[in-house]
Amino acid sequence: MRVIEVKTPGGFDHLTLTDRAVSDPKPQEVSVQWHATSLNFHDYLVANGSIPVPDGRIPMSDGAGEVMAVGEEVREFAVGDKVMSMFFPNWIDGKPTLRKTIGIMGETLDGCMAEQACLPATALTKIPDGYSYAEAATLPCAALTAWRGLMEEGGLTAGETVLVEGTGGMSVFALQLAKAAGARVFATTSSAAKAERLKGMGVEAVINYKEDERWGKTINKLSDGGVDYVLDVGGGSTMKQSVEAAKIGGHISSIGILGGGRKGEITFPKLFFKHLTLKGIAVGSREMQEAMVNAINVSGMKPVIDRSFGFDELADAFRYQETGQHFGKIVLEW
Ligand SMILES: NC(=O)c1ccc[n+]([C@@H]2O[C@H](COP(=O)([O-])OP(=O)(O)OC[C@H]3O[C@@H](n4cnc5c(N)ncnc54)[C@H](OP(=O)(O)O)[C@@H]3O)[C@@H](O)[C@H]2O)c1
Repeated sequence: MRVIEVKTPGGFDHLTLTDRAVSDPKPQEVSVQWHATSLNFHDYLVANGSIPVPDGRIPMSDGAGEVMAVGEEVREFAVGDKVMSMFFPNWIDGKPTLRKTIGIMGETLDGCMAEQACLPATALTKIPDGYSYAEAATLPCAALTAWRGLMEEGGLTAGETVLVEGTGGMSVFALQLAKAAGARVFATTSSAAKAERLKGMGVEAVINYKEDERWGKTINKLSDGGVDYVLDVGGGSTMKQSVEAAKIGGHISSIGILGGGRKGEITFPKLFFKHLTLKGIAVGSREMQEAMVNAINVSGMKPVIDRSFGFDELADAFRYQETGQHFGKIVLEW
């Protein structure tokens, strides 16, 4: 079977197409034929060498495919089932712990950029009804993070307000999930064309974060005193404004470090005088992924796929992601 490996020291020119032997499932494992994956910022950092991985690691946290064989002790899946991966394959339920989150697909474990893999049955979930493999492959990292930030951590309800930042995969899912829950959504982007698309998806007001440096204050005004939920994607480059945008008693999920935001400042009195909950979140558990799939089955939400590439075009897909032109998800299908 074909796989793509990350070769030390990383870099898109070192993504190497190679062959590996197909394996048979152990008693508690499922053999999956992967048919699609999707790009996340995390995969980009693995591929370009910013997150060092062992030489020969198979990248990509997200995958969707078909069950080809099951081990003798597997009861949950049968041959022909359509399944998808989990970002943390050992985090089944409950609170995160080191043991549950040390295994990461496409980083500390081999990922989904392969034609076949054997995984524990507990490292997979079913995909939403009627989803293609490419659609399902958009969900395990980006959509689950958005789902957790809005639903699992906060418990978003109809009529509440949400701010999504930028138009990457995670943020567009957050917009769609928030709208499906009956929330009012505000957004930022750096592009006038993308602002129009956001408005077309029901966003109440869109601010260009490059033109309006104090976009947090602007969102606060436009939302009549701040939003209930902020999904912060920039860390040090956005958190100060995210705090401005939040309502008294609001929730902020710290999710990413786009725009070089590994470190930064927060105005602490604003944090406590606004009674904000600030929580760092990294994707979620299998239990959360199953809850999200159930919600998608009810709402009928479909992902926004910007562009699709083939198996041997992974480097081209990352180069496209790097341009920041995309709106929503970039996928590879085979
Ligand atoms: N913690 C977690 O579990 C988790 C899970 C998923 C993602 N993330 C993180 O969330 C972030 C987004 O991930 P993704 O996979 O959705 O990435 P992505 O698809 O590559 O997102 C890129 C988009 O982000 C926007 N952006 C860039 N710099 C920005 C800034 N300074 N302020 C606001 N928006 C900015 C741009 O949107 P415009 O073109 O509209 O300006 C850009 O097109 C990354 O930092 C990623 O690591 C974290």
